[in-house]
Parts: sequence; C-alpha cells; structure tokens
Amino acid sequence: MSIHPEAQERNDRLKAINPAILEALSPLGRRSFFPKGIPYQAGQSKGCKINATIGQITDGEGNPLPLAPMAEKLASLNPKDAFLYSPIQGREQSRKAWHAKLVKEDARVEAVGLPVASAGICHAITMGAELFFGKGDTLVLADLYWDNYEQIFNIRLEGDFKRFPFYNEALGFNVEGLKRAIAEVQGKVQVLLNFPSNPSGYSPTPAEMQAIAQVLIEAAKDRTVVVYCDDAYHGLVFDKAATPKSLFFELINKSPNLIPLKCDGVTKELSFFGGRVGFLSFGVDKVAAEILVDKCMGLIRSGIGSPVALSQYLMEIELADERHDAEFEKMRQVLGRRYDILRKALDRKVPHWTVYPFNAGCFCLLKLRPGLNADAIRQKLIHEESVGVVSHGDDYIRLAFCSMKEEAIEPLIEALERVCARN
Ligand SMILES: Cc1ncc(COP(=O)(O)O)c(C=O)c1O
Repeated sequence: MSIHPEAQERNDRLKAINPAILEALSPLGRRSFFPKGIPYQAGQSKGCKINATIGQITDGEGNPLPLAPMAEKLASLNPKDAFLYSPIQGREQSRKAWHAKLVKEDARVEAVGLPVASAGICHAITMGAELFFGKGDTLVLADLYWDNYEQIFNIRLEGDFKRFPFYNEALGFNVEGLKRAIAEVQGKVQVLLNFPSNPSGYSPTPAEMQAIAQVLIEAAKDRTVVVYCDDAYHGLVFDKAATPKSLFFELINKSPNLIPLKCDGVTKELSFFGGRVGFLSFGVDKVAAEILVDKCMGLIRSGIGSPVALSQYLMEIELADERHDAEFEKMRQVLGRRYDILRKALDRKVPHWTVYPFNAGCFCLLKLRPGLNADAIRQKLIHEESVGVVSHGDDYIRLAFCSMKEEAIEPLIEALERVCARN
C-alpha cells in the first residue's frame, strides 16, 4: 500500500533526525499520521468568534449543554472540562501533569517530550506496538507475563514471542537469560519488560535494574532495540531491596538505536481502574517524539476516536491536590500490610508449592508441585472452598493480595493447602 504524502513528510523528518527510528517503524507505523481533518481544523479555529467546525453540541460560546442528571452529579466540576471532547493527543494539562510527575520521580525525564494520552495502559502498549511491531516480528519477554500480551502481539499484530525464564537459579531476575534471548534474534530487536511484574510481583534490585539497562544499551550498539516498559504497577513496592524506579529512566537518550517506550497510567497508580487514562512516553529526541505522538494521534483517531476527557480532568485534580502524595502512600501502605501478612502466611513450608520471590505490585505466584494442575486446583477452590484465584499456565497459581482483606489471607492459604492435599 502506498504511503500518504502526509505520512511521507513525517517519515522524511524522522529520517533526518534519526534514521534508526524510521527503520524501526512497522508498516502501520510508517503509514500513520494525524490528518488535517475535523479535530485538526477545529483546533485551529479554537480562538474564533464563531466556530462552526466540530460536531460538539454547545451553547455557541464553547460551553457544553449537559443533561441534568449527569450535570447534577458533576456539579462541582467545570462543565467544559467534564463534558467536552479531549484533544486527540490528550488534554495539555493532563500530559503536562503526568510528565511533571515523572520528572519528580527522575530528573532525566526532563529530556523526554510530553506523553500521548491513551484509553488506559493496555491501549498505550497497543499503540506503541502498532507503531513498531509488524507481522512476523519477534518480541523478547520473560516467560512469566501478563496474558494480554498474547492478544496484542500474537493475535492482533501477528508476531511471535521469544521467551526466557523470568528468574535465574539464585531466584533473582534472569539478566543473563534476557541477554541470551536478545542475542538469538536477528536484526531489529523488541523487548518487553514489566516491573513490578504481573504475575510474579517482582521488582528488580537497583543492581539488577542497572544490569538490565546495560544489556539493552549494549544490544543497541549495532542494531535497533525497541523496549516496551510496562510500568502499570509503578510505585507499588514493599521491600527496601527492590527498586521503585522505572527501567525507562535508565534508557533515556542512551543511544540513537535505542527506542524506549514507557506505558503507564492512572489505573493502579492512582487506583482509578475505570478511568481509562494511560500514557505513552518516548525516550528519544524530543522532535522525533513529537512526530511519533503525531503518528499515535492517527492511531487514536482511527481507533477510540479521542481519549476520555472527564477522567483526564479528574486525574489533573488529583495530581494537583497537595494531599496526593500522602493519599498514594496511604494506599501503598494498605497493600504493604497485606503483603506482609501474605509473606508470613507463605513462610510456612508446604509440600504442595514453591513460592517465587515477590516484593512489589499486586500479586504473588506459586508453582504447584508435579501432579497438580493449576486450573483443576483453581476450579476446586471455587467449588469446594468458595475461593477465587487465577491459574497461570498448567503449573502456577497467582494470588492477588491487592483485592483481599487482611483477615482473608491466612484462610486463603489454608484453603489452597487443603485442596492441594486432597489431590
Ligand atoms: C502488566 C499489566 N499491564 C497493563 C495492564 C493494563 O492496564 P489498563 O487496565 O490500564 O489497561 C495491566 C492490567 O491488569 C497489567 O497487569
């Protein structure tokens, strides 16, 4: 399929800034651009006295005409912010607030352009993948991963996985395994790393994080490396030995061949699951990042249309509130107490499973002894003990301590032990 002249213009500019980025784009990434259509033209007319551009119902002066039942519930909010469209790339205030939050966490983010908003973190990953991951491409990732990556990279985008064991023999993160898997892929290599991990609940130590970054920087010496940092559980860390920092920070502007993507959002970090606000940041030259944002705007326009304005607005209110840091800490401590209780409950040696190291996030992962099937155990737990857990592959049970009362943790482990013992 031929490339639209507008897309060609973006591609030519990318080539002039950094040809490695252009070469890394998937066929869809090359074709994408934000068209000079309705949202673009409406944006240009924003300051006009009379605005007959956009299909947005207003009073003719830029104010919405909301329906009373909704307006009454949202009475304390500015109706324009609550009811009107968001710009396609996300609200300027939201993008700036999220960027400022990241800068506060690590000053190296100053060098990174504003993120593009998405409809949740999954959508941020999908957008990044649509830009760079084409049919037949290979994604390097650890063997314990969020199952939805299969939907994104295998089913939707028709690529393959090269997996390496998540833990090494010392039960730390398997940096050597990552290095070997990367070495086995020819040409452009794409790597996805999710810390704290779903399903393992593991965040690397600072030394492991440095070593992972070194592997990726080293790999980018002679070829293009795209890294998807899935930071969905960022900040939810409960052990001092684990890093609360993002891998993304270590990769910013490290090599023209290294393209780090940060996928994050309000879902877990701000405990705003239904809000559907995510962000995609590009750790490359700022002008190149702007072009990639433009390409994402084409993807957003053709997919979800535009991101949710109301929940971006609520996020801005939350981040601007002086109570925010304390509120986050309060939530982290609620999870931290459950984490402590779960650790204690799992300290007791049980012949039916091995507990993998966990120090962060929302989960822990148990490997069942040979002879036990994870899904059969899961179903028996539901029917015989009224307990719900998740089976992961044939051998693993994932426990989500984020959604359990403290008092329920010990009974859960006891129920699991009873069911395993009966099988
Ligand atoms: C590792 C990981 N990444 C991404 C997501 C998606 O988050 P969202 O609900 O914002 O799309 C999840 C959600 O469970 C997750 O566990």
